Amino acid sequence: MHIRPATPADIPRIMSLERQSPTAGHWTEGLYRQVFRPEGPVRLLLVAESRDLKPGAEGPSILGFLIAHHLAPEWELENLVVAPGARRKGLGTCLLEALLHAARETNGSVFLEVRESNAPARALYENAGFKQTGRRHSYYKSPSEAAILYRWTVA
Ligand SMILES: CC(C)(COP(=O)(O)OP(=O)(O)OC[C@H]1O[C@@H](n2cnc3c(N)ncnc32)[C@H](O)[C@@H]1OP(=O)(O)O)[C@@H](O)C(=O)NCCC(=O)NCCS
Repeated sequence: MHIRPATPADIPRIMSLERQSPTAGHWTEGLYRQVFRPEGPVRLLLVAESRDLKPGAEGPSILGFLIAHHLAPEWELENLVVAPGARRKGLGTCLLEALLHAARETNGSVFLEVRESNAPARALYENAGFKQTGRRHSYYKSPSEAAILYRWTVA
C-alpha cells in the first residue's frame, strides 16, 4: 500500500468507495473536480493505493482516501474513508498521519466533526490525539444526530 496525492482520474474510484460507506461524507462529482482547480480552496486529497494489480484491472485499487481543507493555520478534515474489506489494518491511521504531518509542517491545527454514533471513527481520532471540543445537537440529518467536534493541535 502507498499513499499519494489524488489526480482527477481517481475521482470515479473515490466516489465508488465513498458510496460504499453510509457514515462517510457524500460529495458530488463537481465538488471533487473543484479540488483540482487552481483558483479553488486549498485542499489535500490523498489516496491509499494497493500495490497489487488484480487480473484484468485497469490500475491498482484505491483502498482509502482522505480529504482536508486548508485555511491557514487550520485544516478541516472533511472526509476519511477506508474500503470495508481493508479496515482495521492501520490504513485510516496512515492517511490521518499524513494529514497531521502536513499540519505540523504548516504549524497548524486540525478540526473535524463526526456523527456521535460513529464509534470506529471516534476511536481512530482519539487514538491519534484528537480532543473533543464540543457537541452540536441534531447537526446531521437523515437520520438526525448530534455531531461531536474534535481538534488536534501540535504537541
Ligand atoms: C473510520 C475508518 C476510516 C477507520 O479506518 P481503519 O483503516 O479501519 O482504521 P485503523 O485500522 O487505522 O484503526 C485505528 C484505530 O481506530 C479504532 N477503530 C477503527 N475501527 C474500529 C472499529 N470498527 N471499532 C472500534 N474501534 C475501531 C481502533 O482503536 C483502531 O486501532 P486498533 O485496530 O489497533 O484497535 C473506517 O472505519 C471507515 O472508513 N469508516 C466509514 C467512513 C467513515 O465513517 N469515516 C469517518 C467520517 S468522519
